[in-house]
Amino acid sequence: MEQTFLMIKPDGVQRGLIGEIVSRFERKGLQLKAAKFMVISRELAENHYAEHKGKDFYERLLSFISSGPVFAMVWSGDNAIALTRALIGKTNAVDAAPGTIRSDFAVHTNFNLIHGSDSPENAKREISLFFAPHELVEYEHSIQRWI
Ligand code: TYD
Ligand code: MG
Repeated sequence: MEQTFLMIKPDGVQRGLIGEIVSRFERKGLQLKAAKFMVISRELAENHYAEHKGKDFYERLLSFISSGPVFAMVWSGDNAIALTRALIGKTNAVDAAPGTIRSDFAVHTNFNLIHGSDSPENAKREISLFFAPHELVEYEHSIQRWI
């Protein structure tokens, strides 16, 4: 089982899309391991987006991501990283395939609703930035018997 870090960004929260987005991962058959509704500090935003430091959109991204509450989550499942990236869609909503979250609900790159880890290393790093180990809940999930 692979774990990934997903986070509904402030625009997704503001637009009332938490339930819609969470429901897509539930229906897919992934297992929710942890969730937290919170406002990201500047320091946490810098750590989370460290790979983008120095890029032209970096400062705008930091102020956007800490501008209001986010819904941070850990999801688990076989190929959870690739599967959730596929459900999320390409970074720019214009390029996102129809049926993906970003295609269905986002208009452009600046406000693209959700973050998803892009590699096992980043998933591990991002999960540990947002959650303490004891906040990941172990429980039996019926879907594990079917997929
Ligand atoms: P990135 O990690 O490239 O995209 P993704 O979220 O699909 O993994 O970029 C992180 C976020 O930075 C992206 O979701 C939105 C923002 N961003 C911009 O505002 N402008 C840009 O040109 C890019 C590439 C990203
Ligand atoms: Mg990324």
